[in-house]
Amino acid sequence: MTATILVCDTCGFSDEEKIRNGRTAGETFAEHVERAANGGGVRVKRHSCLMGCGHGCNAAIAEPGKITYVLGRFDPEPEAAEALVEYATKYAGSETGVVPYREWPQGVKGHFVSRVPPLRD
Ligand code: FES
Repeated sequence: MTATILVCDTCGFSDEEKIRNGRTAGETFAEHVERAANGGGVRVKRHSCLMGCGHGCNAAIAEPGKITYVLGRFDPEPEAAEALVEYATKYAGSETGVVPYREWPQGVKGHFVSRVPPLRD
């Protein structure tokens, strides 16, 4: 199974500025995440709105049988995307989705919004 990063591609730059140069912040962030993940062990999919519009940019990390994490408050910058992909790669390598705090990239600290436990039969 492969972990997936779901990136919201409709997040704005702020409440007042949804689009800059014809693009949303989410589109820019998704592009950075896709580039950072290229050739790695995680998939990236775009999704329009993760219902965290007030604290974008937002993304979720999920894999069947593992905890799902929602993260937000990212700037649409390469460094943020690289931290997210680094964390997702560690998540993919874990058994349950729990990555020890000491292994978290600095760039994801303070960005966790929620976690959802895996569904069990
Ligand atoms: S527009 Fe990105 S979470 Fe709603």
